[in-house]
Amino acid sequence: MSLETASPLAPYPRHGSNAGQPITRRDGELKVTGQATYAADNHPEGLLYAVCAVSSIARGRVTHLDVAAAMAHPGVVEVLTPANRPPLALDPNVKHGPFGFRLEVLQDDTVRYANQPIALVAAESLEAAVEGAALLNPRYEAQPARTGLEDGQRYAPAGVGVGAPPRTAHGDVEAGFAAAARIVEADFETPAQFHNAMEPHAVVAQWDGDRLTLDMPNQALVMSREAYGAFFGVPGANVLIRSPFLGGGFGSKAILNGPQLLGILAARHLKRPVKLVLSRAQMYGPVGHRGRTWQTLRLGLDGQGRLTALRHRSLAATSSFDDFLEPAANASLHAYASPAILSETEGLRLDIGTPGPMRAPGEASGSAALEAAMDEAAEACGMDPLDFRLANYAETEPGTGRPYSSKALRECYAEGARAFGWAGRPLRPRQMRDADGLLVGWGVGSALFPCPHFPAEARATLRADGTALVETAGVDMGQGAWTVLAQIAAEALGLDPARVEFRSGVSDLPDAGVAGGSGHTASAGLALHNAGQNVIARLTELAAADPASPLFGAGNVGVTARDGRLHRRDDDSRSESYAEILARAGQPLITASGRMARDEEAVQSWAMYSHGAVFAEVKVDPDFGMVRATRLVGAFAAGRIVNPRLVRSQYYGGMIWGAGFALHEAALADRRTGRIMNADLAEYRVPVNADVPSLEAILVPEEDRYVNPLGVKGVGEIGITGTVGAIANAVWHATGVRVRRFPIHIEDLMGG
Ligand code: MOS
Repeated sequence: MSLETASPLAPYPRHGSNAGQPITRRDGELKVTGQATYAADNHPEGLLYAVCAVSSIARGRVTHLDVAAAMAHPGVVEVLTPANRPPLALDPNVKHGPFGFRLEVLQDDTVRYANQPIALVAAESLEAAVEGAALLNPRYEAQPARTGLEDGQRYAPAGVGVGAPPRTAHGDVEAGFAAAARIVEADFETPAQFHNAMEPHAVVAQWDGDRLTLDMPNQALVMSREAYGAFFGVPGANVLIRSPFLGGGFGSKAILNGPQLLGILAARHLKRPVKLVLSRAQMYGPVGHRGRTWQTLRLGLDGQGRLTALRHRSLAATSSFDDFLEPAANASLHAYASPAILSETEGLRLDIGTPGPMRAPGEASGSAALEAAMDEAAEACGMDPLDFRLANYAETEPGTGRPYSSKALRECYAEGARAFGWAGRPLRPRQMRDADGLLVGWGVGSALFPCPHFPAEARATLRADGTALVETAGVDMGQGAWTVLAQIAAEALGLDPARVEFRSGVSDLPDAGVAGGSGHTASAGLALHNAGQNVIARLTELAAADPASPLFGAGNVGVTARDGRLHRRDDDSRSESYAEILARAGQPLITASGRMARDEEAVQSWAMYSHGAVFAEVKVDPDFGMVRATRLVGAFAAGRIVNPRLVRSQYYGGMIWGAGFALHEAALADRRTGRIMNADLAEYRVPVNADVPSLEAILVPEEDRYVNPLGVKGVGEIGITGTVGAIANAVWHATGVRVRRFPIHIEDLMGG
């Protein structure tokens, strides 16, 4: 089999692997042997190195930069500042498009957050660029930074997340509270979290006249191509983005950011290729993060432990100059049955970089609070938390009453509970100890994520030798798109994946949409599926019209395509190979396109979500409060599973991130300076193996005939959504302490 050219991948193992099979990552060998190339691995001839100088204050003005000192440093070629930054074709202060953000590209000397780019230094070597940036020695006129609830400015936002309303009401919550036998109310706080992808944001930009080539990690190739082109006044088709691999994206690489745009601008200005790679510290500011929230949950409950009203309010932090509000309160809109639900979000302006989408935006932080509040409500009702969730099971979509296209959440609860050993869990806290005297607690959380689909296109070409080429500008950010999308295409073509060449990861292929929203496999997969089916349909026409074919006249009864042959549906023994059909027709190849297309009526009629249940065990040192998530069992139902191995890996990733959310992750701002004090991976804690000693992900079977013709839902983000609450609830069960501020700290539990 011939190999994809932009990033040569290993051929598939030839063991009948196809959709539904747990085949290993096609790019795995390249990655573990160091052969996979990432953006910064590119070194075109004549390359210059660019480095951002960033602000050390969070609010104020840059009054002086020693540009002369930097320029005098050997090897430094150019220093860009607001005084000499070349023009852009679009105003970076304006948001362009639905994923548009105000971009930081040296438009003025105002400082709006710490780590804001204030200059760019280009040099013949990385060392010279770094030294040049240090020599700029900025002076500032600083103002006090607004870092929190006490000094931020509250406002009523126009929207939350990406275009969701800031207030959604179903039914009358006040009436629901008035009718309640008891009310549970609790305040929660979630911190600023940063994506911290292993691969920093980077770009290698090369201009050739009005044509631009970008090696950069990117989650949305064609959309970004158009956007970058627009900033330079060239058509998107002039821009080639190559992004064969990403060292993690998590939402931070789906949108444009200032530093990468500056790197491209420098390349144009200097007429040489430019490489710019953010340092780890510089990723804490200009490239988005999960914004802080302060949430209040109010639950009205009747005598049987059923919700009479559910109100979820959130105050969400954003920057002083742009709006991205973590849509946490919306997590309560779709989870549980309640006659009345109200979700409301208020904004809080701080001197920070603008937040952005980060793995399960809103659902992660919102479900953390919701699931913890549900646990408190179960306790108030004297009910087992799992029974309590079953008592509030949504049989139809809360608010709208739409039926679910599929919902195997009951099965998730049951299978997860069985695997975890939930039965017999004591109702009261502080009832269990292990052999070493550590407090043991068990908690549960429900997991949920919607099933967005994005416009996507693909092309499939069947060749004379019976092999195929399938193409779409998809993105593998570690989730396994190289493998799973090719499996889907191979299945549609009736070919072993080993006979299907898959081209992806470059922007001059058909638009595969965004690898985000847990919708890439469904969206790009559907386009590939349809392209493959269209090829088979044309091949069938050729054969059915040819009197020399054993399939002559099969048009009415139809054919099936498998193992490189078409078979008559009414007589399986009458078949012909693709190569024979093409050869007799004298055609060297057949090409067809396909699009993400769904039955719009079905999309409107059915509520579509992936569901799951996460069970957590924690152990807590009774004296020192040290806490560890010793066991996590997640059971998830997400429609058809294309590749169980890779899906399990997605669930593990989500659950590990959930453990980080519950127990480790937080970026902390220094109130005096507004700078983030732990802007590095030494002090910004992410879970390591010792923090997640036991993970189990159960794939609960679920058939969905409505979500799309493939029956595929999303798996990328759901794992985080139940896990945070499950761990917090387990901590309470171990200790009797309700910690409502994440992450849960040792000092919250010490001497408990
Ligand atoms: Mo994501 S936060 O949908 O890349």
